[in-house]
Order: sequence, then C-alpha cells, then structure tokens
Amino acid sequence: MSSYKTVKTTGNTEWFTHDRFGMFIHFGLYALPARHEWIMNHESITAEKYQKYFDNFNPDLFDAREWARAAKKAGMKYVILTTKHHEGFCLFDTKYTDFKITNTRFGRDLVREYVDAFRAEGIKIGFYYSLLDWHHPEYPIDVCHPHSNYEWAAEKDKGRDMKKYAEYMRNQVTELLTNYGKIDIIWFDFCITWGKESERYKDWMQFGGNKGPDEWESEKMIELIRGLQPEIMINNRLGIPQDVWTPEQRRPTEWRKNEDGELLVWEACHTFSGSWGYHRDEATWKSDKMLIDLLVSTVAFGGNLIMNVGPCSRGYFDYRAVNALNTYADWMRVNSRSIYGCTMAEPEFKAPDGTVLTQSVDEKRLYIHMQTYPFASLEVENLAGKIDYVQFLSDGSEIKYKENAEKGTVTFTLPPVAPVGISPVIEIILK
Ligand code: GLC
Repeated sequence: MSSYKTVKTTGNTEWFTHDRFGMFIHFGLYALPARHEWIMNHESITAEKYQKYFDNFNPDLFDAREWARAAKKAGMKYVILTTKHHEGFCLFDTKYTDFKITNTRFGRDLVREYVDAFRAEGIKIGFYYSLLDWHHPEYPIDVCHPHSNYEWAAEKDKGRDMKKYAEYMRNQVTELLTNYGKIDIIWFDFCITWGKESERYKDWMQFGGNKGPDEWESEKMIELIRGLQPEIMINNRLGIPQDVWTPEQRRPTEWRKNEDGELLVWEACHTFSGSWGYHRDEATWKSDKMLIDLLVSTVAFGGNLIMNVGPCSRGYFDYRAVNALNTYADWMRVNSRSIYGCTMAEPEFKAPDGTVLTQSVDEKRLYIHMQTYPFASLEVENLAGKIDYVQFLSDGSEIKYKENAEKGTVTFTLPPVAPVGISPVIEIILK
C-alpha cells in the first residue's frame, strides 16, 4: 500500500481519493448577462435592475441527463452544482425565500432533476452553497456587496442581522440535506482559511466581506450537517478546516500538509476559461494539453481535480465546454487507469525531465506521463530490477527496455514519433 497517509477525516473521503476527477457546475441568473458570475458586484447592479434576469430566466433546453452523460463520458466521477451562488438565487425549491427557480417561468426544481440524473449515471452528488448572499435582506451591505458604493447603502444596511442570515443558511442547508437523499459532498464558498499573516488573506477577506467562522456561525453549521448526513464531506471554506482543502485556479507544486505535518485531502478547482459562470465573450479557453496536464499533475501530488462548466442561460453546455469535455473523454477512455485509484508515486521514484509520475495506491503500477515527449528513449533512475512488464497505456503496446543493474537505471526504447494523444503514458507493472 502507498506510504502516503492522509489526515483522518470525519466525513467519508475514501471514494473521493479514489475517484480523483469531478465536474463543477456554476449555473444561476448570471448566465443571462453572460459576463461572469460576479456581474452583480462588478457592475454594482441594484436588486431592481437585476430582476430582469429573474423575469427572463427560462433554461428551456436544460436536460439534466445530457449534463450527466457528458460528465460520465469525460470520466468524471462526482459533481458539484451551485445550489445558490453569491447573487442569492436558489436553484432548488425552498420555503425560506421567493428568490428561487420554482418561481421563475421555468418553474421546475433543477436541483431535483440534477440529483436524479447524475445519480442514475452512478456519479456522486455534491452541493455548492454560497455563504455570500447579495439578495437576502438580512445580509450586511459589506465591502464586497454590489450595493456598497451607493449613497443609500448605509441607510439600507441599518438593522441587518447577520444572526438571522446565519439561521437562514442553516434552514436551507437542512432542506438540501433532507430533501434529496444521500449527498456526498457539501462545498461552501467562501471564507478564507489561509494564515492571517499571509498577504492573500487580506486580499481575500475583503471579498468575503471580512467575515469569518464567527459571523457564518460555522461551528453550528458543521454540527448540523454532521447530524443530518454523517458520511458527507465538507470543504474548508466555512473557515474551519474540515475534510478537504480546496485551492482554486492554482496548480500546487507540493502535497500540502496541516500544522501537524499530516497530508491533507485536497481538490483543485479550475475553469475551462476565466469565468465560472457562463461568459459569452471570454476567450482564455485552456488548450487541450493544459487540460490534461492539469489533471495529471494534480493526481501526481495526491490531489483531486474538478473542472467547471458554466451552462448558458438556455440550460445547455456551450460548444467550447463540450470540446473541453471531449478532450477529457478521449484521454480518459484509454488512460483513466493512471488516474483512478492513483496517487503520488513513492519517493523512491524520480520523474525524468518533462514527465510526471502517478502510482496506483496498491503500489503495483507506476505511470510515467510524458508531458514533453522525449526522443526515442527515456532513462529512469532507481528502477532496475523492479519491472515486470511495460506498455503504452493508450494502446497496450509493449515497450522494450534495458536495465543497468550497476547504475540502477532503466532505459525505455520509445518510438521516435509520439503515439497519438496528449501526454502519452507509460504503464509499468512492478514486480
Ligand atoms: C471564487 C469565486 C466564485 C466561484 C468560486 C469557485 O471564490 O468568487 O465565484 O464560485 O471561486 O471556487
């Protein structure tokens, strides 16, 4: 068994560290303006002006089964949907606000259809829930609130009661965790868990309106959740580290540890392009190679990856998102064995330049992902005497090799031209 032991968690993380790859979905009223999910804040839009998106919301081409099939085909094993984002709009039927999907022209409980469809494909279910809420009447007009720059802000902010808002959140989370069966992960956004001394802490606290676990009443929330769904995973963004650490739009270069030096369960989240919500004119779509390299390098440091889709306002995945998902589908169809049930390679193995390694948790298979394809041969240290068989993972074709017992190295004989596909993988069956 792999020598890397992660910190003991309260929620069940076993399936999670096996499955490695999931889908994030950001869907809400912001899909209509199609200019970023923070548009209400970026453009200081008042509630009255934002109302037109509610009035025109009607994702008539939405089909949860289509979303679920796309995720499955891409090799994604779990999914996390924004049940409520910062704008405050709820994609589920709730007793606690009228600002919900069942009151739009669309009229259906999208969360229900989402849960049923993804579950039917055998995909584990996650709920994202925003701590920030720019619609709720008790939510303070803080520094990052869309209305904070208006001269009437202070007046309107008077008497707002964060305690009432915290209770609202608990009521909604109770609905989400009782009305939809077993939920595998709940993902809050966001409160910062970086050390107070870090520069990033100051920057990011602002975005969260300078609130911490006390204001969100995070401890109460955690207790509530653990009572409702004992197995569920909770992320770290309530400001109190829980089952999973969630770095965003970054590629960590080491496996992060907690203060006691224990390895964390972690998950990176990334966009296909720069925005989480559907953004019509955003042009920074990641290349196919970047998409695959992100997945591979994440698992190589013992982490998970979720890639985000922002469906357009008519409810389907835009062709650019479909292309990106197809890139994963093609690659995962033949290479998923180097991802599922895999983790960081044992310290005895060193990745040659231009490659990264993953290894199965049972230690029996080692994978060399060639992010840069070497010419005709590849030498790996400390591998002599340990190999049983070697092949390309993509087509199962044998790779010949020479061992140098004295140096401990193995040199693989590779075709001068790379096999078709991104980041070809050498699969080594170890003795
Ligand atoms: C950031 C953004 C938010 C997005 C989240 C995903 O915190 O504020 O819009 O939902 O990242 O991790």
